[in-house]
Amino acid sequence: MILGLLLLNPKILYICAMSGDITVAITGVHAFVPEDVLTNKDLEKLVDTNDAWIMERVGIKERHILKDPDKASAFMGAEAVKGLLQKTGTDPEDVELLICATVTGDYQVPDTANQICKLSGLSRAYGFDLNAACSGFLFALATGAQFIKAGTHRKVIVVGSDKMSSITDYTDRSTCILFGDAAGAVLLEPSINEFGLEQIALYGDAAGKDMLRIKSGGSLRPPSEETVAHREHFVWQDGRVVFKAAVKGMAEAVKEVISRAGYQSADIDWIVPHQANYRIIKSVAEMLDYPLEKVMINIQKYGNTTAATIPLCLWEYEPQLKEGDKLVLTAFGGGYTWGAILLTWAYQK
Ligand code: UT7
Repeated sequence: MILGLLLLNPKILYICAMSGDITVAITGVHAFVPEDVLTNKDLEKLVDTNDAWIMERVGIKERHILKDPDKASAFMGAEAVKGLLQKTGTDPEDVELLICATVTGDYQVPDTANQICKLSGLSRAYGFDLNAACSGFLFALATGAQFIKAGTHRKVIVVGSDKMSSITDYTDRSTCILFGDAAGAVLLEPSINEFGLEQIALYGDAAGKDMLRIKSGGSLRPPSEETVAHREHFVWQDGRVVFKAAVKGMAEAVKEVISRAGYQSADIDWIVPHQANYRIIKSVAEMLDYPLEKVMINIQKYGNTTAATIPLCLWEYEPQLKEGDKLVLTAFGGGYTWGAILLTWAYQK
C-alpha cells in the first residue's frame, strides 16, 4: 500500500529520499575576474620590488583588480552567480540560500550575500556572510552542505568574493604583490549519483590573531583619524610565520581527510589548494609526496584572491574534471582557520 503511494506520487518519493542519508554534490561552478590587470612591472613603479623576486618567492605574474570605485565584492559575486545560473540552467526562483565567504564585504552592515541575491535575481533566496579569511570558501562550503544534508534545502549557492585591492596597502611591498580581486560560486544540490562531499575537516586557532590581521576597523579598534594615519585599515601579516603554519596546516588537514575516508594519496585525482604562494603549494605537495601535476595552480594569473581562490581553480580546471574524480580542497588563512574537504566530482562538463 505504502509502496503503491510512493510510486504514484513523485513528491512523496522525494520526501522519502530526503529523509535518508543525503550526499551533497557540487553541480556547477563559475567565476568572475575583473578585466584590469596589475602586473609585476606595474608594481615595480609603486614599490621597491621586481618581477624576478616576486616570481621566485611567490610565483605571481599578475593579478586582476576591480578598478570601478562603485563596484565591489557584491558585484563580483553576483556576476559569478549569474554565470552559474545560466550554465547550470538553474531557475533563480529555485535557489533557497546563498552563503558568501568574504573579508571585504561591501559594508560592515548590511551583509554582502543578500546584495548578491538581489543583483543576481535570486528573489526567493536568503543569504548570510561568513568570515574565515582565506579559508572562507571551505567553511562556507561545509556550512552550505549542512542545509542540504538536513533535508531542508535543495539548492544552495556558495560564493567566495573578495575585493582585496580595497584592503591592500600599495606602499607595502611585502603585501601589495600578493593580492588580487575575484569571485567564484558553486551550486550545491542533493547528489543524484551518490558522488559528492565525503569528508570535512575544519580547524581554528586564535594563536594566529597577531600574525595575519587588519588591526583596526572592528569593534575593538574602530576607525579613527589615528588608525587611518597609521594605515591600520590594511591587511598585514608576518609572512614567514604564516608560511610555515600554512604548509603544516594544509598538509595535515589533507592527510586527515584522506585517512578518514580510508584512501591513500594515490587515490586522489586532484588537490585544490588555496593560492597564497606557489612555494607553499609546492611544499604541501612535497610533504604529501603528491605529484605537482595533479595540483590545481593558477596563482600566477590571479594572485591571492582570498575566499575566491578555490572556486576560481575549480572553474578553470572544470573542463579537465571527470565524474568520479576524487578531489581534496584545502586552505589556510587568518584566524588562524584551516582545513580540507574531500569530495567526489559529481558531473562531467
Ligand atoms: O593567504 C593567507 C595566508 N597567507 C600566506 O599563506 C602567506 C604566507 N607567506 C608568504 O607567502 C611569504 O612569507 C611572503 C610572500 C609574504 C614573503 O616571502 P618570504 O620569502 O617569506 O620573504 P621574507 O618576508 O622572508 O623577506 C625576505 C626578504 C626581506 O629582505 P631582507 O630582510 O632579507 O633584506 C624582505 O624585505 O625579501 C624582502 N622583500 C622583498 N623584496 C623584493 C619582501 N617583499 C619584497 C618584495 N620585493 N615585494
